[in-house]
Amino acid sequence: MSTIAPQVVTTEFTPTGSRQMDDDSIRTNDLNLWYGDFQALMNVSVNIKKGIITGLIGPSGCGKTTLLRCFNRINERYGNVTTTGDIEILEKNIYDSDVSVRQLRRSIGMVFQRPNPLPISIYDNVLFGMGIHDADKSLSKSNRNDIVEKSLREVDLWNTVKDRLKSRATTLTLEQQQKLCIARLLPLKPDIILMDEPCSALDAEGIEKVENLIESLRDDYTVVIVTHNMAQARRATDECIFMLLGEIIEHSKTSELFLNPQHEKTEMYIQGRYG
Ligand SMILES: Nc1ncnc2c1ncn2[C@@H]1O[C@H](COP(=O)(O)OP(=O)(O)O)[C@@H](O)[C@H]1O
Ligand SMILES: [Mg+2]
Repeated sequence: MSTIAPQVVTTEFTPTGSRQMDDDSIRTNDLNLWYGDFQALMNVSVNIKKGIITGLIGPSGCGKTTLLRCFNRINERYGNVTTTGDIEILEKNIYDSDVSVRQLRRSIGMVFQRPNPLPISIYDNVLFGMGIHDADKSLSKSNRNDIVEKSLREVDLWNTVKDRLKSRATTLTLEQQQKLCIARLLPLKPDIILMDEPCSALDAEGIEKVENLIESLRDDYTVVIVTHNMAQARRATDECIFMLLGEIIEHSKTSELFLNPQHEKTEMYIQGRYG
C-alpha cells in the first residue's frame, strides 16, 4: 500500500528533448539493479514507445515489478538497492541532478495490484493529489468540480458515482476503486502510467471494464502494464516485453510475440510450459 506524503510541486517534470509522435517515452541502457547482493535486473536496454500500451510479461520473480519501479525511481524507497546504467524518460536522464523526484513521480503515475483509494470521499480522492500540490488554494470550487467530473468521465465512472461523490471511496466495488485510482492520476497530467497487475484483484467483469479503460488511455498516455495473464497481454497490449531472470529476452509487437516468437524461451513461456 503506498501512501502519498503531502508535498508542494510548482512545475511539472520538464523533459529537455524534442518530442515526436514516434519517439520513445522510456529508454534504458544497460540497466542493472541489485537488492543487496542479489542482482534482479541484468543489462536491461529497452525502448518503450510513446502513446502505446506495452506489456511486461514473464514468470513470477523475473523482475517485472522491479523494472517498472525503476521508471519513477520508487525502488529508491527500498533500502539496499543499487543501480547502474541509464534511464531516460522523454529524453531526459532521470538521474540528472536537476531532476526533482517529486516532479518525476507526478509525470509518471502508478497503479497497483490492489486498488488503494484513500479512506476519504470519492471526490476528495480525485482532488487529493491536486489539493496538496495546489498549496496556494488557487482553484475555485467550480474548477475543482470540473476537475473531478472530467477525471471521472475519462475513466467512465462519472455516471456511476455522480450522485454519491461524497461517499467513501472504499464503498465502491474493486473495479470502481481501480478506476478511481486511475482517475486520481489524471489531474496531474502524467505522460506515463505504470500499472502493476492492475486487474489481479478483479473478477471477470471488472477485468473487462478496466481493460476497456486502459485501451481508452492509449494515444493520450504511454501505458506500461505488468500482467501474468497471457490472454490479457494479447488483448490489451500493442507491444510486449518478455523477461526471464532479470533479463529481457524478447521485445516485439504483441501479435508477433504471440504468433511468431523469436526465442525458444518466449515460446515456452507463452505456451505455459514454465512460470
Ligand atoms: N525489496 C526487495 N528486496 C529484496 N529482493 C527483492 C525486493 N523486491 C523484489 N525482490 C526480488 O527481486 C526479484 C524480482 O522481483 P520482482 O521484480 O517483484 O519480480 P516480478 O514482479 O516479475 O514477480 C525476485 O527474486 C524478488 O524476490
Ligand atoms: Mg511483480
